[in-house]
Amino acid sequence: MKIKNICCIGAGYVGGPTMAVIAQKCPEINVTVVDINEERIKAWNDEDVENIPIYEPGLSAVVKEARGRNLFFSTDVDAAIDKADMIFISVNTPTKTYGIGKGMAADLKFIELCARQIARVSKDDKIVVEKSTLPVRTAEALKNILDNTGNGVNYQILSNPEFLAEGTAVDDLMNPDRVLIGGDIDTTKGKEAVEALVDVYAHWVPRERLLTTNVWSSELSKLTANAFLAQRVSSINAMSELCEKTGADVNEVSKAVGMDSRIGSKFLKSSVGFGGSCFQKDILNLVYISKSFGLNEVADYWEQVILMNDHQKRRFAAKIVQTLFNTVSGKKIALLGWAFKKDTNDTRESAAIYVADYLLNEQAEIVIYDPKVKTEQIYADLDYLNSRSSEENRARLKVVNTPYEATNDSHAVAVLTEWDEFKELDWQKVYNEMLKPAFLFDGRRLLKRKTKEEIGFEFYAIGS
Ligand code: NAD
Ligand code: UGA
Repeated sequence: MKIKNICCIGAGYVGGPTMAVIAQKCPEINVTVVDINEERIKAWNDEDVENIPIYEPGLSAVVKEARGRNLFFSTDVDAAIDKADMIFISVNTPTKTYGIGKGMAADLKFIELCARQIARVSKDDKIVVEKSTLPVRTAEALKNILDNTGNGVNYQILSNPEFLAEGTAVDDLMNPDRVLIGGDIDTTKGKEAVEALVDVYAHWVPRERLLTTNVWSSELSKLTANAFLAQRVSSINAMSELCEKTGADVNEVSKAVGMDSRIGSKFLKSSVGFGGSCFQKDILNLVYISKSFGLNEVADYWEQVILMNDHQKRRFAAKIVQTLFNTVSGKKIALLGWAFKKDTNDTRESAAIYVADYLLNEQAEIVIYDPKVKTEQIYADLDYLNSRSSEENRARLKVVNTPYEATNDSHAVAVLTEWDEFKELDWQKVYNEMLKPAFLFDGRRLLKRKTKEEIGFEFYAIGS
């Protein structure tokens, strides 16, 4: 079966870039990305391609090439579903904030709404692809809704989790380590559906990297991959604290450990704590699923990854307070970086949010500079925590347009995102314009200790 029309529900960080790359690589397939968020769709359609709603290196060029040719962004969800042979569901699956599983389980209401809409609209057979990250066995629920509320058409459900990382999304999509496709490989129709999706990716991904499995393995592999990745960060962060007590240096330790080919060198960078929309939510989901099967030891094991991460964020903020003579009340502290990592404007679960919140509780005056994050986003992130009134957040935390405005007259500077430009700052100027002693905290191991100490900074870096 050759796919001619693809619809993707959800024009977010995954749906947008993924579909842009599929459209670019498969010019004969029409790809329509739909969303209920009108503003987002408007931004995807902005005449100036630099104004698309997601910042990812290389993305605007891909969108520019395909948009209007075979890549379309629309709010007409019904029309796109009706026309498609293959429908990707790429909507958000946040942690539940209410009811059973609150704070742990994935909230699948957006997924279910998509399924019901597909069932209502579809008049011919469809392949439905889970692109969102979902608890294992969600495909069963999807199939149940589609088969029982639909118009009697045949649905094949595939799981095709996305492994892209933000900041490198386009590279990851162009050259993935693997593409995972789970389907009902025991039936002819199921096999055909898997092959149809394999053919889409085979336009640019070598066949040996297209991995097909049963649906449950595919769903669970995504949660497993994120849990393993996050676990590595928590493992090295646990060591960073021990390094600080013993005179070892966490960068040296991670290099030494990573050179063991069985361990590998990637994802061993100590930091102020991992952020991003998925690691925490997916591990909580895994913990919840394990508990629901009565696997309490399994649940406790993975939960520790989150507890260690919370500890790392808290201990970094506490270190600032302690170093500034146990009080930051009324002191100006500059935070460089708000995004959860460099090269993205995404701030979801960013460690910076929690560090700022901690310091605000200690009555500090915070000034933020981030090259890509908008001021409204920073306030929205803080307001979401509900730690104080939004007026107070606005009174006590300011956002500025240059790093030097942030650092000028400050008692301390903390690097919270590893933006390249922070390496190149005129650190002598920063030092000259700060109050003395000038405290500099590196939560990303971005800066060289020697040169900063030569300038005169009191320098602290995670893990050394
Ligand atoms: P997102 O919030 O950026 O985008 C989701 C979009 O879906 C939103 O724009 C929302 O308006 C839209 N939406 C929700 N319900 C809808 C409906 N019924 N009809 C139409 N549109 C609807 O989320 P995201 O970061 O793209 O993540 C999507 C999924 O992909 C999640 O399950 C996530 O875990 C997974 N994932 C994310 C990443 C990442 O790097 N962000 C990577 C891999 C996997
Ligand atoms: C992560 C995974 O890397 C992707 O494979 C996955 O698809 C995605 O989650 C998802 O499911 O959403 P992402 O969160 O975009 O991607 O970014 P990462 O590069 O994984 O970084 C996550 C966090 O860990 C960041 O805050 C980063 O600074 C931190 N990190 C990462 C470290 O502190 N140390 C490291 O060595 C690596």
